Amino acid sequence: MSIKFERFKTGLAILDEVLPNGIPRNNMIMILGEGGTGKSVFMLQLMYYRLLAGEPCIFMCLDDTPLSILQSAEGFNWNLLDYTSKGLLRFIDCYSFRMSPDKASIPEYTIYVENPRELYLLVDILNGLMDRLGMRGRGAVFIDSLTELMSLSESAVALEVVKIIRAECAKERGVTVFGTFHFGVKPYDDLEQILEYVVDGIIDLRYDPQYMQQGFLVKQFRVRKMKGAPHHTGWVSFNVDSTGIFKVSPKT
Ligand SMILES: Nc1ncnc2c1ncn2[C@@H]1O[C@H](COP(=O)(O)OP(=O)(O)OP(=O)(O)O)[C@@H](O)[C@H]1O
Ligand SMILES: [Mg+2]
Repeated sequence: MSIKFERFKTGLAILDEVLPNGIPRNNMIMILGEGGTGKSVFMLQLMYYRLLAGEPCIFMCLDDTPLSILQSAEGFNWNLLDYTSKGLLRFIDCYSFRMSPDKASIPEYTIYVENPRELYLLVDILNGLMDRLGMRGRGAVFIDSLTELMSLSESAVALEVVKIIRAECAKERGVTVFGTFHFGVKPYDDLEQILEYVVDGIIDLRYDPQYMQQGFLVKQFRVRKMKGAPHHTGWVSFNVDSTGIFKVSPKT
C-alpha cells in the first residue's frame, strides 16, 4: 500500500525555492520572528496565493481587526473582497471583543467571537467554518498570532488547544495551518520552545545580524524545520514593497 502524501507549492517564489517538493498539506507551520520582521505579510501573501489557486482560507485575527487585514492586503493590490464574495475567504475575529462592536455592522464574511477566552468554543467555531467551506485536503487556516492565542488562557489550556487545532485541521482534514509567533516575548519563551516541537514546520524571520551592527535592517527568513519535505536551511534575505515579498542580495 502506498500512502499519498500530498504536498503543495506555496506560490511564494522565495519560499518555494527552498522547498523544492513543496509543503505537506497536513503540516502545522509556525512563522517565528521579532516584531516587524514581516510575519503578518508572509501570512497574507501565502493566503493570497491559496485564494488565487481557488482554495478556501480562514484567517483568524487575534492581533488586529479583519478590516486592517483587508486594508493591508489592499496596500499590495490584493483585493481580498473578491474572495469573500466568492465564499472562499472567511475571518474569525478574536480581536474586536475589546471594542464591543455594533453587531449589525459585522460583515457576513466575518465571525465575530464575543469571548475568545473560551478557547474550546473557538475550536468548535473553526471546525464549523471549515465544514461550511468544504475544507478537506485543500485550503489553509492562518492564525495571527499564536502568541495572542496563548495569552487568552492559562498556558496548559492554550497549548492543548493548539495541539487540537493541529490534530483536527492539519492531521485529520489535511488543511495546512500557518501561525505566527512573536519571538522574544519573555513570558512566552517557555511556550515558544514547547511549540517548536509541537508544530511540523518552523519558518524563522529575523534581521540580518551583520547589517544590524551597521545600523541597517535587512529582513531574512529560513526554513528551520519542515516535516515530510526536503528543504534548504540557509538564511535568505528579502524585502517588502507594494508588490509583496521579494528576494534581495544585499551587497557586502
Ligand atoms: N504595503 C507595504 N509596503 C511596503 N512595506 C510593507 C508593507 N506592509 C508591510 N511592509 C513592511 O513589513 C513590515 C511589517 O511587517 P509585518 O507587519 O508583517 O511584521 P510582523 O512581523 O507581523 O510584526 P508584528 O510582530 O508587530 O506583528 C513593515 O515594517 C514594512 O517594512
Ligand atoms: Mg504581525
